Amino acid sequence: MSEELWQAVDDFAEGVLIGDDPVLDEALAASARSGLPQIAVTASQGRFLNLLLRIHGARRVLELGTLGGYSTVWMGRALPADGRIVTLELDPGYAEVARENLRRAGLEEKVEVRVGPALASLAALRQAGGEPFDVVFIDADKQRTPEYFLEALELVRPGGLIVADNVVRGGAVADPHSEDAGARGMRRFMEIAGASGRVTATTIQTVGAKGYDGFTLALVEP
Ligand code: SAH
Ligand code: DHB
Ligand code: MG
Repeated sequence: MSEELWQAVDDFAEGVLIGDDPVLDEALAASARSGLPQIAVTASQGRFLNLLLRIHGARRVLELGTLGGYSTVWMGRALPADGRIVTLELDPGYAEVARENLRRAGLEEKVEVRVGPALASLAALRQAGGEPFDVVFIDADKQRTPEYFLEALELVRPGGLIVADNVVRGGAVADPHSEDAGARGMRRFMEIAGASGRVTATTIQTVGAKGYDGFTLALVEP
């Protein structure tokens, strides 16, 4: 099995199930032109997030790690008319690219891009005491995922979902001595989630155009 084969399957499945999408294609092209790293979710993963939000009836979504807003567009399209996404991004230049991509997608009214370190933005959200979120998508700096998960638990409603991306890291997560700070973070995140008694969670390994990785899905128990 090879990365080329995983890519070919994504190409086939995306071709027949998703098709061309000028707004999303331009979001990726604009991100590449602005020099953003090409690490957004794939179209298949974006569609998966979109479906998850619709199955869950999500109205309020919190995203950590906006990049160019590609995953944000996929999720924003799943929301009802009064739905809202708050998405957190460290880099002001990336946030500007995301705002333009979201504007082109007609989502500027539904999405607020907040610039700054996610931990500071999360503390501010907690302080503000707004309505809880239905879904939190954690996709920022991988080594801080344990802290992000604990903050997410405070901001999501009972019965809400927490999804963490890039938890497998080519399998490095299984190595307790990994030198990859991200992999160690994901190990710790899963340990904390498992021991918390607050969520029912599972990790699904994935292959595809982005190689070998995976995500964790956690349902917050009442
Ligand atoms: N969700 C995006 C990909 C996000 S990539 C998508 O799939 O389309 C990870 C993002 O997290 C990058 O844009 C990076 O700048 C951002 N990031 C890294 N450290 C951060 C921090 N401490 N706070 C907020 N965002 C951070
Ligand atoms: C990487 C991949 C991602 O999906 C992400 O959100 C952040 C980083 C990476 O491959 O480095
Ligand atoms: Mg990711």
